Amino acid sequence: MKLPLISTCLSLVAVTFGAKLPSSFMKCNLKQTDFQQCLTKAVEDAIKQMNRPLKGVNLLNLGPLEIPGMTVAAGSQVLYTQQVFKNMKVSGFNETTCSKVEFDTDEKILKLDCIVPHFRVEFDYEVNGRLFLVSIYGKGSGWAVFVDNHMQLTFKLGEYEKKGKKYYNVVKQELKMLMTDVEFDLENLLDGDEEAADRVKKVMKDNILEIYGDVRSGYEEAFGLVFASVFDRLLGKVPAVFLFGEK
Ligand SMILES: *[C@@H]1O[C@H](CO)[C@@H](O)[C@H](O)[C@H]1NC(C)=O
Repeated sequence: MKLPLISTCLSLVAVTFGAKLPSSFMKCNLKQTDFQQCLTKAVEDAIKQMNRPLKGVNLLNLGPLEIPGMTVAAGSQVLYTQQVFKNMKVSGFNETTCSKVEFDTDEKILKLDCIVPHFRVEFDYEVNGRLFLVSIYGKGSGWAVFVDNHMQLTFKLGEYEKKGKKYYNVVKQELKMLMTDVEFDLENLLDGDEEAADRVKKVMKDNILEIYGDVRSGYEEAFGLVFASVFDRLLGKVPAVFLFGEK
């Protein structure tokens, strides 16, 4: 009976005073001359650390990142079926490398340029339509690995005050996402007609980047929203001053 009470009190304290970033996170201060380089390293390092639950601040967990559902619109050239995903688990963030992370303090724009070498997604899927001229349908579980997934993520931030402290929030986001290959499997494709399903999967494998190109904007929008919501949750808990220090 006592434990839940204690944790409620603790989270109230965190809400009142604002949570600090975990002490294991690298800190960068806007005053330092190499702020942008520091930020690049710090963000990469933080993303890697979030691969396991962090002590203290129960912020977010990217190991795996769970997404209850995602619906991606049909393409218009190649893949004529909407793609419905449920129970998604995204992992692989522990190997993230970031070549550039920039924060424009005047415009409050944060830009990340990062690669996740094995961006792995497990899911339940449902499709019903056409791939090229071939029928594609089925419902089951599956996985995909976006190889060398290169993500350019831009957040436009707003700011507001809560209990006398300044906080940021995400106002708008844009994600560009390109990979060099997609490895995947879809169980029960074509309702379990395995021979036909293997032929369709071969067509998919041979044309995977063209297929992705046809539905890319839908994936970029959907994952952009997911990353914005993850980041926004962190911003809502940690006052601005604990993120970047002060100018
Ligand atoms: C990242 O996590 C995966 C899966 O847990 C593991 O196989 C891999 O070795 C890890 N990579 C690093 C650099 O820790």
